[in-house]
Amino acid sequence: MELIVKGHSGYQIDIVREGNDLYVYKRCSDADKATRLMRQAAKQEQATTHRHTGFQTPHILAAEQNGDNASIKMEYIYSRNFMEYFESAGFEQIDYFIHTLIRYIEEELALSPLQTIDTRIVTDKFSSVEKTVNTNPHIRKDERLANIMEKSKRLLTGINEWKMPIGICHGDLTFSNILFTANTYYLIDFLDSFIESPLLDIVKLRQDSAHIWSAKLYTKPYDPIRLGIICQKIDSELDTYFQRYDWYKGYYRPLQVLNLLRVLQYAKEDAIIDDLETEISKLLYAI
Ligand SMILES: Nc1ncnc2c1ncn2[C@@H]1O[C@H](COP(=O)(O)OP(=O)(O)OP(=O)(O)O)[C@@H](O)[C@H]1O
Ligand SMILES: [Mg+2]
Repeated sequence: MELIVKGHSGYQIDIVREGNDLYVYKRCSDADKATRLMRQAAKQEQATTHRHTGFQTPHILAAEQNGDNASIKMEYIYSRNFMEYFESAGFEQIDYFIHTLIRYIEEELALSPLQTIDTRIVTDKFSSVEKTVNTNPHIRKDERLANIMEKSKRLLTGINEWKMPIGICHGDLTFSNILFTANTYYLIDFLDSFIESPLLDIVKLRQDSAHIWSAKLYTKPYDPIRLGIICQKIDSELDTYFQRYDWYKGYYRPLQVLNLLRVLQYAKEDAIIDDLETEISKLLYAI
């Protein structure tokens, strides 16, 4: 038996029965993606060695690269996605989920000492995003975009010191990369991050809780009001909790702007582009 699950990043995901067991194969045939997939496998396997309360990671059983082709084989987790979970979860379950997320980030923080990073890591990333935005034919080069780029640049280049916890991060900690079972949560789809900081994981989580990103890519029907209530609860609790850290207070907003610009640079659909520009503007004009 072979089932194909559609991902958004251009990887082919197959669920395959071998004997009595199910496995997931994630494959690609593109040089950049192949390299990324191999690093993902290494990071995911590495994560199974960190003890995280409440989160587990499917084991990688094989990882192979052959030129542009790569594939990884991992345990299949019989699970629900975030939307299915949120649709049926009571507030107590959402509370437990939020506390488990906070504990996960705290466990990453315990392995990530405060360090000052080279400001060019951020400014170079902005310059590369700016270039891609300017050459993306789907993005209208209007005044709104010019204002966004100008204001973002000022925000990011105006910070003279970037001092934050550096060490561990998932790299793409969106709700769509969490699988929900009755007893635990599983993390998949690890990614190298341009800054290996737990702060980047908070940015990715709030990409979903504050900017409702994964829901925009969700293709089945769902209750937007219920999702809105749950996301607002998750978002305000995460934000309130992390306000205790100076690096969060100082860098969350600029890094979320940069994160949404990174999503925008590859966007192709008008509705998504418009939405991203609206979300970035909200952050840029927040007092
Ligand atoms: N180990 C697993 N067990 C069960 N389902 C899985 C597993 N790995 C992946 N999936 C399913 O495949 C989907 C896509 O997986 P993954 O996030 O790794 O790929 P992706 O191409 O990066 O997708 P996206 O861009 O949508 O995040 C998951 O949302 C999940 O439904
Ligand atoms: Mg994914």
